[in-house]
Amino acid sequence: MRNPSPNSGRRAHAVCLLATFFLAAAITTTTAAQDQTIWDGVYTEEQAARGQRTYDQECAACHLDDLMGDGIAPSLIGSAFFFRWSELSMGDMYTAIRTTMPQGAPASLSPSGYADISAYMLQKNDVPAGSMELPSDTDDLDGIMITEAQ
Ligand code: HEC
Repeated sequence: MRNPSPNSGRRAHAVCLLATFFLAAAITTTTAAQDQTIWDGVYTEEQAARGQRTYDQECAACHLDDLMGDGIAPSLIGSAFFFRWSELSMGDMYTAIRTTMPQGAPASLSPSGYADISAYMLQKNDVPAGSMELPSDTDDLDGIMITEAQ
């Protein structure tokens, strides 16, 4: 007669693995639902227009009017933008800019000034606007992921 215990032990193990799998899937789904990406309409046209004015005053001298950079100051648009920031959050980008730019005078703009410039950078990277302004709170910005495709 076969001893049933090794089989039932394996079955219990399989059930446990299955439960772990569903739990992991549930957690992943929940996280994905909470996280936004830049493609979800995370800034407004008005904000980007404000950002453009601040950018022209504070950043364009080095990064140029078209945001293409001048060789020393890097381009802020196109493949350079996505190569640098993809898979990072808007919080990462905001903090990097605020703590280093404008070069020689970091953190010299208001928090909303940096948020406005970030909105303008999204607009110039063909990311569509929405009805909510980009926040300047880094906890909120950390929930907005930068991805290359929609
Ligand atoms: C005086 C020239 C100058 C000004 C003004 C300036 N930058 Fe820069 N910026 C640079 C240089 C040079 C670099 C590359 C070296 C570095 O990262 O410090 C750079 C780098 C950057 C980077 C890449 C940082 C990274 O971590 O990859 C960003 C984004 C940026 N600047 C945005 C801005 C914004 C936004 C403003 C305006 C608020 C601004 N810069 C003003 C010269 C400037």
